[in-house]
Amino acid sequence: MNMSLQHWRLLVEADGIAVATLDKAGESANSLSADVMDEFSRLLDQLDLYPPKGLIIRSGKEAGFIAGADIGEFSQLDSPEKGRALVERGWNLFNRLAAVRYPTLALVRGHCLGGGLELALACRYLLAVDEPGTKMGLPEVMLGIFPGWGGMLRLPQRIGPTAALDLMLTGKTLDARRAKKMGLSDDCVPPRVMEAAARQLVLSGQPRRALPVIQRLLNGPLKGVVARGARKQVARKARPQHYPAPYAIIDLWAKHNGNALAAPEVIDRIIHSATARNLVRVFHLQERLKGFGKTSDFKARRVHVIGAGVMGGDIAAWCALRGMTVSLQDQNVERIAPAIARAGKLFSRRLRDPLRARAAFDRLIPDPQGEGVAHADVVIEAIFENVEAKHALFRHVEPRLKPGAVLATNTSSLRLEDLCTVLQRPERLVGIHFFNPVAMMPLVEVVEAKGADAAAVAAACAFVRQIDKLPLPVKSAPGFLVNAVLAPYMLAAMRAVDDGLAPETVDEAMLAFGMPMGPIELADTVGLDIAMAAGKQLADGADAPRCLATRIERGQLGKKSGQGFYDWSSGRAKKGSAGQVPADLAERLVAPLIARTRRLVDTGVVGDADLADAGVIFGTGFAPFTGGPLNFASSTHE
Ligand code: NAI
Repeated sequence: MNMSLQHWRLLVEADGIAVATLDKAGESANSLSADVMDEFSRLLDQLDLYPPKGLIIRSGKEAGFIAGADIGEFSQLDSPEKGRALVERGWNLFNRLAAVRYPTLALVRGHCLGGGLELALACRYLLAVDEPGTKMGLPEVMLGIFPGWGGMLRLPQRIGPTAALDLMLTGKTLDARRAKKMGLSDDCVPPRVMEAAARQLVLSGQPRRALPVIQRLLNGPLKGVVARGARKQVARKARPQHYPAPYAIIDLWAKHNGNALAAPEVIDRIIHSATARNLVRVFHLQERLKGFGKTSDFKARRVHVIGAGVMGGDIAAWCALRGMTVSLQDQNVERIAPAIARAGKLFSRRLRDPLRARAAFDRLIPDPQGEGVAHADVVIEAIFENVEAKHALFRHVEPRLKPGAVLATNTSSLRLEDLCTVLQRPERLVGIHFFNPVAMMPLVEVVEAKGADAAAVAAACAFVRQIDKLPLPVKSAPGFLVNAVLAPYMLAAMRAVDDGLAPETVDEAMLAFGMPMGPIELADTVGLDIAMAAGKQLADGADAPRCLATRIERGQLGKKSGQGFYDWSSGRAKKGSAGQVPADLAERLVAPLIARTRRLVDTGVVGDADLADAGVIFGTGFAPFTGGPLNFASSTHE
């Protein structure tokens, strides 16, 4: 066919099946930019002239099917007209695809997200290829926007509104098997038979699986009930003034059957919201952090973790979950056992499939003798926070390391410059500082001591990416970035309690600000003894707050002891009701955090203001809709 397409290839095969392959020029992953969409429209024109027996849409990329819309274009929408035009383009094009007379099939291998899934949903059939990278979802909400190209219309029709809203409101993704189970894909096949299966299915004439009657009612006359339930659920996690998009998604589905063009004012409000702008910023910051993992071609396969306590045990489990072979060392087997038991729970929760959980379990090897050191690409020390203990360990470990292996410490408060003095090659020690709980926190600080080998630091960053965390390079300084900015904030929160406010009131002020957890509950969770020790080191010599000191004297250490600021006897904080929150309280409490963040940028502990914002968001959960503390400060004081 005589069409000159840059991003698509269209081939009509002898059996009359047309195959449209998207292979976006100059990119490693496919995204639906304006020109890709435009070419697709021309491709449909062509097929209108010569209708095929069936159309298979697939990707020409290793990386996956389609990652979504082009986020770069999204940031350039500087007028309401442009925002509406963007929604219109995809909505109309995919309606057109859904209406073609010949059968269509999306062959989904690898990620199929956002606009990519909306395209696939507009096909008659969706065939998912069962391999680890296959993921389907509508994560627009995480960018503060909505799936406006038909996702809000078709996903509820395909899998029922409750499941669809759950996906659209959380941004969660499904793997190939779950997608089949939920009815999102018609079938799920291994890669080796995908070509044949796609051809067979597209010509099968097979009707789509009908939605059960109850789901049809919920997607029709009973929409109001579902919408009310969904609004309540969202309200537990996100306030509408901070995160308007999930509420808009529910309304657009319930009132306009997913057609945002019927409510142009909603498009304007959402696309041009500060939240969407800041969440897109956070997305770019996240990509920047990922980039630090690409500065070295270091590849880790085996990891050795020493210290199977709170941190070491969970670090080892996480590495095994992400495919590493891990040996876990402690003083004896009894100390390793609880970590292995916790790991088992993590594997079954995260992997769901018993075979894959078993495989992860097999990769995690208890190693009381420390035999794993000699084979490891990365050795992480997470023993007691004590210089002598760490020195003794390093003396013993260093001579047995493989050449080129990364030697790392997870220390929170000791100076790397003091720790490395016993090494023959002190420049090889790096900090790889994880946060508690390891499985939940996306950030890992990679600490560069004075005189450190830059290649070792780059290798550590590459390793952090390989286990799917976000590396943030920081210079060695007390508290690095994250703990250093938390300390003055927690101190301010506790001073407010000393001044007579209830802990509930202080926490409520920060929840209303948009933090995932109040600072007082955070202190209880971390442990009041740990908070005290961190405070001593990081609060510039300020006296400890009275409320903290008295609780520690009484042996009330927070969650772990059953009582701290709150009663934790049931495993969760038992809170009374919050009092009236003073109007300026939140601002007063974040001010020291912002000031400290700025200081750490000025003193070069962290590379620049954007990286500092990224670190504080991904390391503390700092309200992402603000775009980070420094972005927040500059936007409120402009
Ligand atoms: P922990 O007390 O829970 O565990 C330490 C483990 O190391 C114990 O099981 C102990 O038996 C073992 N150990 C001690 N000396 C050993 C040796 N010579 N050989 C083998 N095993 C040995 O401590 P936690 O909380 O896990 O902290 C470990 C490290 O991680 C410390 O450096 C701490 O600063 C750091 N860290 C702690 C965080 C936390 O929230 N607890 C957060 C981030 C870092």
